[in-house]
Amino acid sequence: MTQGSEPRKILLGEDDLPEAWLNIVPSLPSPPEPYLHPATRQPVGPDDLAPLFPMALIGQEVSAEPWIDVPGPVLDAYRLWRPTPLIRALDLERVLGTPARIYYKYEGGSPAGSHKPNTAVPQAYYNAAEGIARLATETGAGQWGSALAFAGARFGLDVDVYMVRASYDAKPYRRTIMETWGARVTPSPSPETAAGRAVLEADPDSTGSLGIAISEAVELAAARDDTHYALGSVLNHVLLHQTVIGLEARKQLDSVGAKPDVLIACVGGGSNFGGFTFPFLADKLAGKLDTRVVAVEPTAAPTLTEGSFGYDLGDQAGMTPLMPMYSLGAGFVPPPIHAGGLRYHGDSPLVSMLVRDGHAEAVAYPQSKVFEAAVTFARAEGILPAPEPAHAIRAVIDEALRCKEQGSAETIVFNLCGHGHFDLAAYADHLSGNLLDV
Ligand SMILES: Cc1ncc(COP(=O)(O)O)c(C=O)c1O
Repeated sequence: MTQGSEPRKILLGEDDLPEAWLNIVPSLPSPPEPYLHPATRQPVGPDDLAPLFPMALIGQEVSAEPWIDVPGPVLDAYRLWRPTPLIRALDLERVLGTPARIYYKYEGGSPAGSHKPNTAVPQAYYNAAEGIARLATETGAGQWGSALAFAGARFGLDVDVYMVRASYDAKPYRRTIMETWGARVTPSPSPETAAGRAVLEADPDSTGSLGIAISEAVELAAARDDTHYALGSVLNHVLLHQTVIGLEARKQLDSVGAKPDVLIACVGGGSNFGGFTFPFLADKLAGKLDTRVVAVEPTAAPTLTEGSFGYDLGDQAGMTPLMPMYSLGAGFVPPPIHAGGLRYHGDSPLVSMLVRDGHAEAVAYPQSKVFEAAVTFARAEGILPAPEPAHAIRAVIDEALRCKEQGSAETIVFNLCGHGHFDLAAYADHLSGNLLDV
């Protein structure tokens, strides 16, 4: 299809909202390896996870069902901002002079400004349905904490957020938005928990990490019967909830007769990447679609490109199960880059497995190159991306320039998983030449 003959925004009606999430597990050539108990190294069972998660989510974590119904109250909440648009990046194509067709799925229009409410809402719903009063969590960039604060307010739950110190200092307004929705926000490492105190004793100026903040939130949740833990990425049920993104995108591309040659998303713990790509990867694994799938990460936390695959802990203090994944080591504290949501030592076991087995590829970029791409995109398309999806945009631009060199009119589709309105300090650093590559 030539430019101008298709709509710029490919929209779906509320009736097209997916009513079931797609579980990638039955599509995989072999089942994922189990999580192991950190003390016994035996596979964890539902009883091990019950102090932290509601049974409905534990069931989803190990489900082999291909589809899992979205509950009605979750669909009602999704309708506040879903379905989200798939947009043809005509102006970016023009600026780059590429024959490639570029589309992006825009998740920045949710109440919290990212894809994170897609899982925050069902997590809050299932916890409230099982009588839990409070959720404890960590947040890197503040996006996940905002999403859970929004979802907690909707289902009447108290929300306690441990926010990585580097982001707490750099993004004070993320804290304000969480507090507006009623959450309590504590900078991590904090003196409130044994895990936080241990880090502060060794390094009173610690900038924190997701791994440390997770330890603090898990510690709080494990100590109280009325409190559960909620994780914004990494786990199977989180990626499951995010598949609404890819399910909608697949329908939207079908409606204009487009097939993706390259799918691109950034990866922190893997949730927007998994949610966006799994419906397409299920088709690819079934031999129905031939597409490249590219995961993009920062060179400051190069988990998939430089980490090693094996069992590792999800947090720093050793409170979570051991998971089979690419990792830089649970003690790795990434330098404080602006893409706080990508500062994680590990990765989703499902995403790790797909990369290990060659079904997806991974690439890493330094933040200076990422912000150059973000500015190019903002000037062409208007939307100011969050630093995390700006990593995906860097890869999109490089793929589009490759298409230009090769004269190949490929279809490139990426997930623009959040806006950058709370990241203006990062843009200011970039525009004034003060952005460092670490
Ligand atoms: C806007 C945004 N994109 C991406 C990520 C990375 O997380 P994930 O890999 O789970 O999508 C985050 C995490 O906080 C985020 O806030």
